Amino acid sequence: MKLKKNVKIFLILFIVVFIVIFGGIKLTKYIIYINSDTYKLLNRGYSEKEVKLFIKILDEKRIKKLENSRKNEQLYNILKQKYFMKKNLSKYEKYLEDNPKTSYKDVIAIINTKANYNWYNKKQTKKTDMSKKDLILVNKFNYLDENYEPNDLKKISLQYAYNDNIIREHVKEAYEKMAKDAKNKGIKLIASSSYRDYKSQDILYERYKVQKGTEEADNVSARPGFSEHQTGLTLDILTDNITMSEFENTDEFKWLIKNAYKYGFILRYPKNKTYITGYSYEAWHYRYVGKKVAEIIHKENITFDEYYAYYIEK
Ligand code: DAL
Ligand code: ZN
Repeated sequence: MKLKKNVKIFLILFIVVFIVIFGGIKLTKYIIYINSDTYKLLNRGYSEKEVKLFIKILDEKRIKKLENSRKNEQLYNILKQKYFMKKNLSKYEKYLEDNPKTSYKDVIAIINTKANYNWYNKKQTKKTDMSKKDLILVNKFNYLDENYEPNDLKKISLQYAYNDNIIREHVKEAYEKMAKDAKNKGIKLIASSSYRDYKSQDILYERYKVQKGTEEADNVSARPGFSEHQTGLTLDILTDNITMSEFENTDEFKWLIKNAYKYGFILRYPKNKTYITGYSYEAWHYRYVGKKVAEIIHKENITFDEYYAYYIEK
């Protein structure tokens, strides 16, 4: 009888202890949750998807700021862009504030490539990093040494170029292979201008300047030291009896647009990308970057400037 009573007391005690422990754990978990960033951000009106990305990318200080201010409608759209770079976040936000009609994608591209600065702005221009080899960046902010001349320049076969076109040896091989394959499909590629030294770029640019004035000259020609042609990795491609501006309407151009990347070449100054490259559309100007990079740039439909900012400089 006594034994039965003891068992009863023990059972009741056991249940009480169980409820206290279990309830305690639950309560602690609840207290932790209502103090968490997730809970506070959800409470601010952000969706679970947004909160997840914020917590993944933002630092604690920024999260706290979000918890204590009105819902930010832009932030998620900025963060989810493919080429978002954390170091540029405040610049994206400032640019959007000043240019609210610009698309998120464009804001990212402009800030990443510093295209919001004036071209050739003295504070932004610097000698380019030559260690990047086939991926050296030459644009209106990154220049080559006046004396830079690649030491493996070779003449392009006259089958595929006008007279006296020289280019770096591995680029010559890639180009000639491309031109040969094109020829087999009835496509006739002719290189019209390839390596140009500092001096000849200077003469070319000055001629444009006299003809068209500085602003227009800058749209179509690089200043000496700032031309990709001096890298020996670039060539202008045309076909028979055609001017540069007519080239985009040829089968040769159509073929290049579909195939150049397979040989390591990219169209360097595409249509509607002047706000990033600083140059008018050039259907004829191709830059060698190697097959792997050319394929990414082609598939992603980005400029080399964007590629460099995100994948190389980062
Ligand atoms: N036309 C290109 C931009 C150059 O001069 O290098
Ligand atoms: Zn060119």
